Formats: sequence, C-alpha cells, structure tokens
Amino acid sequence: MLSGGEHVTRNKVVVLDFGGQYSHLIVRRCRDLGVYTELVPFDVPIEVLKSDRIEGIILSGSPFSIHDHGSPRCDPRILELGIPVLGICYGAQLIAYLKGGVVEAGKKSEYGRTELYFSRDSALFQGLNDEGRLNVWMSHGDVIRELDGAEIIGYTKNSPVAAFRISNIYGVQFHPEVHHTDRGEKILWNFLYTICGCERNWTIESFVRDTIEEIKRQVGDGRVVCGLSGGIDSATTAVLVNRAIGDRLTCIFVDNGLLREGEKDEVLKTFRDELKLNVVFVDARERFLNRLRGVKDPEAKRKVIGELFISIFEAEANKLNADFLAQGTIYPDRIESARAGSGKASRIKSHHNVGALPAKLGLKLIEPIKDLYKDEVKEVAEELGIPRLIINRHPFPGPGLAARVVGEVTDDKLRICREASHIVEEELKRSGWYYKVWQAFAVVGDDLATGVMGDARRLGRIVTVRVVESREAMTADFVKLPYDVLEKISRRITNEVRGVTWVTYAISSKPPATIEPC
Ligand code: XMP
Repeated sequence: MLSGGEHVTRNKVVVLDFGGQYSHLIVRRCRDLGVYTELVPFDVPIEVLKSDRIEGIILSGSPFSIHDHGSPRCDPRILELGIPVLGICYGAQLIAYLKGGVVEAGKKSEYGRTELYFSRDSALFQGLNDEGRLNVWMSHGDVIRELDGAEIIGYTKNSPVAAFRISNIYGVQFHPEVHHTDRGEKILWNFLYTICGCERNWTIESFVRDTIEEIKRQVGDGRVVCGLSGGIDSATTAVLVNRAIGDRLTCIFVDNGLLREGEKDEVLKTFRDELKLNVVFVDARERFLNRLRGVKDPEAKRKVIGELFISIFEAEANKLNADFLAQGTIYPDRIESARAGSGKASRIKSHHNVGALPAKLGLKLIEPIKDLYKDEVKEVAEELGIPRLIINRHPFPGPGLAARVVGEVTDDKLRICREASHIVEEELKRSGWYYKVWQAFAVVGDDLATGVMGDARRLGRIVTVRVVESREAMTADFVKLPYDVLEKISRRITNEVRGVTWVTYAISSKPPATIEPC
C-alpha cells in the first residue's frame, strides 16, 4: 500500500522520516534483522497506517528541535493506534512533547559516546548485560526533563529521561541504529521481536521466492519486455522476470555507440549464453552518433540520447506484442523522487527509467526490485547466479561515454575516452583498487597540450583521470591513489592511446564538482 503499485503484501514496520541523517540506516538495520521495513514521510496520513499491515512504528531523528518554528510533527493520533512505537532522538522528544512532557531547549547537549544506565527488566533492554550500563551514541541539543506518567527506563549524566516507556510506546534519546551504540542491534531486535511481535519475513531467499510468485500472478499469460543496460539493476530485474515466466520475457539491448570497451560482447555473452535470456540486440551506433554531431551542451546531449533510445525501444517493443514493461527501479530512486516530487532523482535516472513509455505503449509496469536498497540488489543478484562481473561492475551513466566526452562527441574523442577508460579500469583491477572505489574512468575534451613524440613537438589531447569514492553518489571524494598507480596509468595512456600527450588527475570532490564531467 505505502509503496504504491502492486506488490506482495507483507507485514511491516514503518520508519517515519523526520529528516534525520540516520533514517535510512534504521530501515537497513531492521531489514538486516529480518523484518520488512519501509521509510515513509513523517506526515503520512493516519488512514494509510491503519489500513496497512503495520506491526511497529519508529519515529526517526531530525535536524530540527521541536521548539523550532515549522518543525516536523506527525499526526498525534499515531500514539493512540495501539501499535508499538519507538521514538529515536527527535522522535523520542516529539513523543514526550505530545504527551505533555517538558523538553528543554539546548541547555545540556550531548554528542558522542555517553554512558547510559538502563533498567535491565525493561523489554527494550532485556538481555543487554548484567551491569545495567552501556555506551550509547548521543547527538542532541534538547533534553527531555520530565515526562509524567512514563516509566523512566534509562538515564545518562545529562539526560534524566534518556529512555522511557508509556504502555507500548518507547522513546530513546540515543541512536541504537549506529555502530557506536553498544548492543544497539539487540535493542532494535527487542523492539521488533519482543515488543512488536514481528515474524522474520525478510530474507533474500524469501524475497526471491515471493517476488517470482508475485510476477507470475501479475503477468498471467502475458508477455514482458525489459531494457537491458548491462548494469546490475536491469540484470536482476530481467533474471527475476525470466525465472517467473521463462521465454515470455524479451530483453532489448541497444548499442548506442557509447558503451565501454568490450561491453557489448560481455552483455550478450552473459545474458544470452550464460543466463539463457531472450535478447533482441539493436545496433544503433550510427543513428546515435549521427544525431550527436554538432551537439555540445551536456543537457542537449542527454536529451538527444534519451529521445532516440525511447524511439528505438518503442519500435522494438511494438514488434513484440508485449503487455508489460519490466523496469529496474530501486528503493532510493523512489524515495528520492517522492521527496523531490518529480525532481532530481527522476531526472538523473531519466535514461533508464523510461518515464512516460509504459503509458505511451499501453504497457503495464512491473518493478520487481523497487523495495530494495543497492546492496540488497547485489545480494539478490548473487542468489540468482548473476555473474560477478555484472554485480561488481562500477555504475555507468545512461548517456554512456557521452557524459565523459566534454563538448561534441566526435569519433576521435570517443575512441580516446573508451581506450583510456579501459586502461584506468585495467590498472585499478591489477592494483586491487577497482573494487574499493565507486567509479573510475577517463575524460576527454577539446583541450590540447604539447608533447614530444620522437624528436618532434606535437599538440595532442589532454585526458583527465577521475577516480572517486562515494556512497550512493550524492557526495563523492576523489581517491588518493598511490603515485605509482597514477604513474602507470598516465604512462600507458600516453603510450597506447593515439593522440594523447598529457594526463591529469581530477582532485575535485562532489560538491562542488559532480562525478561525471558533463
Ligand atoms: P553526477 O555526475 O551527477 O553523477 O555526480 C552521480 C551518479 O549518477 C550517474 N549519472 C547518471 N546516470 N543518467 C544516468 O543513468 C545520467 O544522465 C547520469 N548522469 C550521471 C553518475 O555516473 C554517478 O554515478
């Protein structure tokens, strides 16, 4: 219900997101403990919570103080539903405030590890240790001073009400979801299993089994098309659908001329030969490269590529008489688009998530991995036997190498970008860095610099190497690669890639830079 669209209805726990930095982490921890958990906006209508199969509600932290004008509030009737609630940090202060307690603004802040004295016979803290003392992670300015009618089950030096219980409503001032809190996982376990009475319903095996059943039910005797990009999300989607309906799934793989070295052959070999999927291959290299001639602006390039991709996909899908389109949308895409309206996330993914296409083609949409985080997708991919080459490959943007060729995409710049990127990847694999970094590639633009080739001075291209570490690409840092790895990359690029005289290393982080140059 909360996720929208059709999907297996599972019992679940929801985390109301007040904007805290750890909101996603709470969801991840609960899922890791085996309970299906979703992040929902803090102002989710109470009717939605009532109509869903919700076994527990967690209120997250927030950058706000409850005394701030316009600070986020949930519907107070959530506390009257009879469903167990756990408030964390701001969530605990909000419960205290709504229950008429005294929350003091910013007098005795606590940041970092703090000693908590807890009552060992509380259901939330049972089985932690015999001492009744624990190091916990605090990060708050406001303090709950008094809360009449509550049982105080924990306190610290500066927080007289660091943990409390009112019937089956609990609040903790600290963060059990972060690793710095000792036994934080056990505290969440106690909430989920002892207090909420959840059943273990979230394992990768059960996800695969349930999802395949669900796809069978949804598709019936219908036919499905799926665009393959060679990346893990579309691969996992395709294999799940294939397991459900066999060769009534047809995948479409378009070579737009902007793929990495060897990528076309690898994708075809993996999906056709190893995974035995039905793949229609479309060689559209010339069409894309012709359309891109003279186009210099990054957004204009994206638009050309996106539109052409859609028209090719549409033409192929029409031939197949399909009823459904399978798409590899994942959980963070949906959360981001929900937060930003039809904002940034949907724009970033515009190439893969071929937005209006289903309606235009009269296709129904299936998104089998739409509830998964990226590392859960990896686990599912492993469970499905998708080769590691696909699973561990770096993310690659929809517009392909066009995002790494600055200015007009010419044959020569494209060749340089492809060959130099291949060298970067190869050297990182050899030195063991490839799997430690988020993305690694080469960039080429129109800048020239002088080199000496034999005895002659000659102008050649400047190639910029970009290697970044990141979590989910929202921010990124350049990787401090050892000089000898950089030197080897540089030497190989100038020796092996015709027309390159200089190699530079991009040392800008995101923000203010982006990962891709255009
Ligand atoms: P930026 O360059 O915005 O990239 O820091 C963040 C992440 O998104 C990828 N990216 C794209 N993916 N279509 C995509 O499917 C695009 O137009 C696009 N632009 C950037 C990029 O590779 C990085 O992982």
